[in-house]
Amino acid sequence: MSQDPKSTSTSAERYTITAALPYSNGPVHIGHLAGVYVPADIYARFQRMQGKDVVFVCGSDEHGVPITLKARKEGITPQQVVDKYHAIIKKAFEDFGITFDNYSRTSAKIHHETASAFFKKLYEDGKFVEKVTEQFYDAEARQFLADRFIVGICPVCGYEESYGDQCENCGTSHNATDLIKPKSAITGATPSLKKTRHWFLPLDQYEAWLKEWIIEGHKKDWKINVYGQCKSWIDDGLRPRAVTRDLDWGIPVPLEGADGKVLYVWFDAPIGYISSTKEWAEREGKDWEPYWKDKDTKLLHFIGKDNIVFHCIIFPSMLKAEGSYILPANVPANEFLNLEGDKISTSKNWAVWLHEYLDDFPGQQDVLRYVLTANAPETKDSDFSWTDFQARNNNELVAIFGNFINRVVVLTHKYYDGVVPVSTNLIKIDNIALGVIESNKNHISKSLENYRFREALNHLMNTARMGNQYLAGEEPWKTIKTDEERTKTVMYVALQIASALAVLSEPFLPFTSEKLKKMLCFSKLETMPEWKSITEDNIFLPGGHQIGESSLLFSKIEDTQIQQQRDKLQASKKANEAMNTTTAPQKDIINFDDFTKLDMRVGTIIEAERMPKTKKLMVLKVDMGIDVRTIVSGIAESFTAEEVVGKKVTVLINLAPRAIRGVDSEGMILMTETADGKFVFINPDEDGIGNGATIN
Ligand code: 2FM
Ligand code: ZN
Repeated sequence: MSQDPKSTSTSAERYTITAALPYSNGPVHIGHLAGVYVPADIYARFQRMQGKDVVFVCGSDEHGVPITLKARKEGITPQQVVDKYHAIIKKAFEDFGITFDNYSRTSAKIHHETASAFFKKLYEDGKFVEKVTEQFYDAEARQFLADRFIVGICPVCGYEESYGDQCENCGTSHNATDLIKPKSAITGATPSLKKTRHWFLPLDQYEAWLKEWIIEGHKKDWKINVYGQCKSWIDDGLRPRAVTRDLDWGIPVPLEGADGKVLYVWFDAPIGYISSTKEWAEREGKDWEPYWKDKDTKLLHFIGKDNIVFHCIIFPSMLKAEGSYILPANVPANEFLNLEGDKISTSKNWAVWLHEYLDDFPGQQDVLRYVLTANAPETKDSDFSWTDFQARNNNELVAIFGNFINRVVVLTHKYYDGVVPVSTNLIKIDNIALGVIESNKNHISKSLENYRFREALNHLMNTARMGNQYLAGEEPWKTIKTDEERTKTVMYVALQIASALAVLSEPFLPFTSEKLKKMLCFSKLETMPEWKSITEDNIFLPGGHQIGESSLLFSKIEDTQIQQQRDKLQASKKANEAMNTTTAPQKDIINFDDFTKLDMRVGTIIEAERMPKTKKLMVLKVDMGIDVRTIVSGIAESFTAEEVVGKKVTVLINLAPRAIRGVDSEGMILMTETADGKFVFINPDEDGIGNGATIN
């Protein structure tokens, strides 16, 4: 096996692999996939193929403020929100071939019990500090404003929409009271400070230990981005972190007198990895404890960079405080994936959603897996573009991998009716080709052991490239006319390369690997080719073995498909811009009596004239059914006089008259504005609505 001086990882026999629990308040998008789920799945599949004992767990993160905010906005309960998205996310992961051994959810009973018990143990062992502190309180909404219920200016980068617990712009995690000009996300009001009692994990007490464990202990084997973030956190000095919140959605604090308090979502969510493992073990009749407590188990957390502090500092401190758990051996966090040059944003619908991709590109899971791995944000942010997606499919998967397999299988049928020929004489070039398979396998293994997924994929593709070069050099389509024996050997070797690709591609392109194994009729072989059987020999398909018909592994993606995706993105950009211009914050609540004071009616504009010496104003005569009103309106930049005459409009008629440029205006026409600032009438255009009809 080739030696890699940068390689520092050690392998183990048992692996507990976790992938960040996605929030159950929206579907999963390509940013999540590239950062977390695709690499985690590749790694889990790879270790399973090495014969390792692997449990790969995940689940939906169903607590926290964003879920309650979404429920409020949609007028449904938080449970309804999480039920909806949990189902969508779970199905999309399955359809995409993410091989979780268990996909749980944090609203599950087993999780509530596990997290409560964990909290209680720390409480009873005196690991928390109980403090009464001042927290933001929204008097109007009559509630404390935890985390994302509060927004304000980030004290670090100045971003104006930072949340109370974390700034999405610079990734800093902070306390709500650190925000500059805080305001309530519920009412927009400036909150006041009110005393409340909470339990804190005194991270300051773990500082020395964290220094030793991470700064001294993981300098060499953790990724630079992960190590750097941890170091700067620790160097800045750690402060106690509240692990409870005043909220009504979450896991109730399991203590007397803690009514109305729940566990902080970031306290309960990582415990979700443990409960998901327990759920799996119960189902499979296994013991969950060795996966979390045996020193020989390698615990790995796959996450995105915004989760580093929680997985490298806070959760390990919780595990350390509890005392009986192992710590993560590595946290191979990725940076972020952008989309067409812009930051992916759920709220702005600037994303490629997994469930939509699966509908739009049926059977093409591997194309997305491939593109997201080839372009993974491993060391810095990267960008997904539909042009790159198409090019990688057409120029790499189709032209290199697909083309090689197609040529081998088609020629085997053409020359030998699909029967692997018997080779009589391997010459140097054949042995070199077979040797490259083994060295590429070793490169792939090494790269994966070190979480270098892009590099590993490159080694896989190099194996297919080598196959193409071998065929191009040996030209069996020519030798078939001149040298039958040589042709047999070349096809025999090419078939071995195709078989190796079926095995080596499995972690990355599992659907393709499956198809290829079927095409090569692996199930009829006496010895099933596997990772460890790729050695110096590399003979997987013996002479005489019958293979199946050729079918295309990949197909060309056409410009029209790509254009549709671009159009979809443009449409969401437009819709988003329109929304931004029309969504003003809600005004103060009024009561019904206030509303009934407004006399709004339908009228028809019967005359219109631009007001001289103004750009915006138009003087209108409006037939209101009860009388004809003069109304001065600021619509002259949106309509011509001819355009508005005859139009039905809605008018507030009991607004006190006002003189505008010397003309008394006797009402107000109700209008809205388009994204580019044009006025549009609120138009009661149905037949049978006469002038004077009241609006109520
Ligand atoms: O950032 C997120 O999407 C979180 N829901 C990740 C939680 S990971 C874990 F700790 F559960
Ligand atoms: Zn910031």
